[in-house]
Amino acid sequence: MRLALIAGSANPGLAAAVARRVGVELDAVTIDRFPDGELGVSVGSLRGADVYVLQSTGPPAHDHLVELALLADAVRRSGAARISGVIPYLAYARQDRREREGQGIGARVVAELIGGLFDRVVAVDLHTSAVEGFFGCPVEQLSAVPLLAAYVRSSMTDHVVVAPDLGAVKRAERYARMLGLRTAVVRKSRLSGREVEATAVEGDVRDRPVLIVDDMVSTGATIEAAVRALRGAGALQATVVATHGLLVPPAEERLTGLGLAAIVLTDSVPPPAWGGAATVVSVADLLADAVGRLHRDEPLADLVRRD
Ligand code: R5P
Repeated sequence: MRLALIAGSANPGLAAAVARRVGVELDAVTIDRFPDGELGVSVGSLRGADVYVLQSTGPPAHDHLVELALLADAVRRSGAARISGVIPYLAYARQDRREREGQGIGARVVAELIGGLFDRVVAVDLHTSAVEGFFGCPVEQLSAVPLLAAYVRSSMTDHVVVAPDLGAVKRAERYARMLGLRTAVVRKSRLSGREVEATAVEGDVRDRPVLIVDDMVSTGATIEAAVRALRGAGALQATVVATHGLLVPPAEERLTGLGLAAIVLTDSVPPPAWGGAATVVSVADLLADAVGRLHRDEPLADLVRRD
């Protein structure tokens, strides 16, 4: 069965890198935008192929989600034998539960939309693993944590690994195990989509450098609040590591003014245009390895997230 790799428009650099590593040319795709804003996609013949549709759903999330759905449909109608959605960053995963009466569960809605179109979905470091269960198709959740931990390992001294909120505790423990460090936690409460408040630091960070780890950095509010709270608790310089760098405004102003030792992200969404402030570790090898193994029906083993 031919392995075919098709990419949406969200992250052309990553798509090209994955194709190179898999050893295939990206299959041709045409994406049109009509005057009313609707999207239309078309693909070539994929009859009998094992197709991997690569599309991240970072900002603008809605365009990228609809494009992904349209691609899946076009690929199915072109006769593909098997279709996998490779989604390095899954939008809406943070809406995994109702925080108050009257809210919906956005992650479930997106999972139903996407999960029904693919035979299998491959994602990277979902906001929470519970989102896997919202999909009607199997989800293979890869993790960039080992890559990121390996990248920062040589710069770690007597750092404390910090979870910037309670949701990040398991992730912090994974980093801490890999790096042989201990952990601390910042208590956070979210005031709005752009504002958070750090209410306490649990664990001793006095006179120690800190490694703050999160699944994503969006507006930078969480990191800014964590850094200020950690400084208040006596911590030294902070390094930030996160899988997904959405970096929507005002992330640039917030992060560049913080005096961080480093901010390390992956290219699950395109890296920021605002210069060398962030270091980018590519997930291209991770995705290519997963695609190759799935095509050959081999286990993903060490590529998969284990909390
Ligand atoms: C929240 O639970 C997430 O793990 C991130 O901490 C959060 O979404 C980051 O967003 P922002 O950068 O806007 O604070």
